[in-house]
Amino acid sequence: MPSRPRIVVTRAIPEPGLDLLRRHAAVWVNPEDRPLTRDELLTQAATAHGVMGLLTDRIDAGFFEAAPLLRGYANYAVGYDNIDVPEATRRGLPVSNTPDVLTLATAELAFGLLLAAARQIVAADAVMRSGNWPGWGPLQFIGTQLTGRTLGIFGPGRIGLALARLSRGFDMPIVACGGRKPNDTLVRELGARYLPFEDFLATADVIAITAPLTPQTRHAFDAAAFARMKPTAILVNTGRGPIIDEAALVTALAHGQIAAAGLDVYEFEPRMAEGLAALKNVVITPHIGSATRTARDGMAVLAAQNLLAMLDGTTPPTCLNPEVLARS
Ligand code: DGY
Repeated sequence: MPSRPRIVVTRAIPEPGLDLLRRHAAVWVNPEDRPLTRDELLTQAATAHGVMGLLTDRIDAGFFEAAPLLRGYANYAVGYDNIDVPEATRRGLPVSNTPDVLTLATAELAFGLLLAAARQIVAADAVMRSGNWPGWGPLQFIGTQLTGRTLGIFGPGRIGLALARLSRGFDMPIVACGGRKPNDTLVRELGARYLPFEDFLATADVIAITAPLTPQTRHAFDAAAFARMKPTAILVNTGRGPIIDEAALVTALAHGQIAAAGLDVYEFEPRMAEGLAALKNVVITPHIGSATRTARDGMAVLAAQNLLAMLDGTTPPTCLNPEVLARS
């Protein structure tokens, strides 16, 4: 490897991460404020020793094939459904993600969506801006009181636990479902009850999806799931869009099968299912769960540390397949 390896960053990230990389490597950063096309990604990868990419970059066999000098790939995201990890492992290449640093930011946004959906904050704001508010009225914007309602966490990991902790001031009993294994802290510290999926759907007053996208979670929330939920239920998703069958959600919201939703992620980003944006009982944000200064800077530094460790042949702080390093 040359003394200044070549690193490709597929889209500009916050400076603290780029600064760190530039101290050790020749860094090429996508000059445009858009994802690289597949061709552009493969062209850049062809001469890269390390690549830092986004959840929109597909890191699969074709990518690895196009990158003969590659020593590792660092995802600028905690979710890594865009990476074929078994393929990287088969090729002996480390790959990493950015857990922890965005946990609070994402949990806070989930809670914000929950409050906004429960109290129609966005629609109420729109009326004020329109200049059409006629003055106080007893029947205007009647929402749901959250205190005391049962909070359901689907796929509780770090973010689900942080969300449950944020809910403490609202005295919400907690039920949980999914995840690789039961979250002991959630059970011990917050008294969460794990329920089978069907019971979970029927019990929760509000459901927050904090799960990663896997074959098991894809479309877990479909028409059948909405039919089991309470008609007063609120659904929030800050995990990954395809966990919800978005067309079925539009139908469920339009027909009052569930009361409201707060979404930060979408099945086919950046597009939304037809009819979703026209619904009054949904709050929609553009995948901003991690968009705080603290979280995005933290992700940049952590992703940079991961990539530099890969180039050094040492163990990256948050490697997804550390077994490849033990092998070399
Ligand atoms: C992630 O990190 O997976 C988020 O979706 C973007 O920050």
